[in-house]
Amino acid sequence: MANNSVMSLVASDLELVNKEILSQLGSRVPLVEQIAEYIVDSGGKRIRPILAVLVAGALGNKSDHTYTLAAIIEYLHTATLLHDDVVDDSSMRRGRQTANLKWGNSPSILVGDFLYSRAFQMMVQLDSMAVMRILGEATNKIAEGEVWQLMNARNPDVDEATYMEVIKAKTAELFSAATASSAALAGASPKQEKALYDYGIHLGLAFQLIDDVLDYEGDAETLGKNVGDDLAEGKPTLPLIYAMQTGSNDEKQVIREAIEGGNLAALPAVLAAVNATGAIDYARQQAEQQADLAIACLQDLRDSEFKGALTDLAHMAVKRQS
Ligand code: IPE
Ligand code: IPE
Ligand code: MG
Ligand code: MG
Repeated sequence: MANNSVMSLVASDLELVNKEILSQLGSRVPLVEQIAEYIVDSGGKRIRPILAVLVAGALGNKSDHTYTLAAIIEYLHTATLLHDDVVDDSSMRRGRQTANLKWGNSPSILVGDFLYSRAFQMMVQLDSMAVMRILGEATNKIAEGEVWQLMNARNPDVDEATYMEVIKAKTAELFSAATASSAALAGASPKQEKALYDYGIHLGLAFQLIDDVLDYEGDAETLGKNVGDDLAEGKPTLPLIYAMQTGSNDEKQVIREAIEGGNLAALPAVLAAVNATGAIDYARQQAEQQADLAIACLQDLRDSEFKGALTDLAHMAVKRQS
């Protein structure tokens, strides 16, 4: 999703964040380090740590604490990915085999727990109750969102409002935790912290809406993960929900059965229904709307290159191919 001006603005910060990320992985158990390094080192867009850095920059508060916070947030994210790939039975992540495919489910889950708990150890260094509260709440909501989504698997009757609530919990809450915790560290006013929290929610919603579109029309090599995973898990995501709402009886039936069966073999027929109903365009429009709402939350922020980058990120979240 690289955008050159955003990336060059944060390049030197990201180097420091990456240094912090790698330096905190230490464990006396070799497999912990091996798996943690494998996933952390394989890249990833680092969008959540970038958010923390940009907010610190916009509020004039970049410091060593910013990099620690950014690393903590990437650890929390990486832990969710390790767990998510087990739950979704995924085989490719960040252009490599998933840890669950390479080492098995048990090590993936346990190393995910290691990363979660290391993140909480690192939080103590920040000595901020506000940051603890924000990140504790976000982590809890993500876990809840993933369980909620699991309960909705293979259920074709999930509606759009429920879908939006689930993606808010499982994805948007961490985006908003990145922006709000960075604002809290900067001593922002409650009003500014809330505006940045809301920006993160809308950005995260746009990001996940596009993730769910790309699971149907993306390219695995560019994405670094397989397409079709959502259908294989019977996930009722917005492209399918909208196609069922607006499609013919036949189209509805094809999608219902594919969701109920978690049937990847039905992908061509499902794609035909999704395309015929304009469901991808609809999901993209919803993402654009969320990106606009995100940008509107920045209005009280003083103008700066960091604010400009936060605006660019919202556009990038919709346009991205990876
Ligand atoms: C993947 O997030 C999980 C979702 C919320 C869709 P990213 O797309 O940010 O993953 P990386 O960190 O770049 O690999
Ligand atoms: C990601 O949801 C949410 C979390 C990791 C918490 P997905 O299951 O859609 O993410 P990908 O597509 O596997 O990255
Ligand atoms: Mg997944
Ligand atoms: Mg996905």
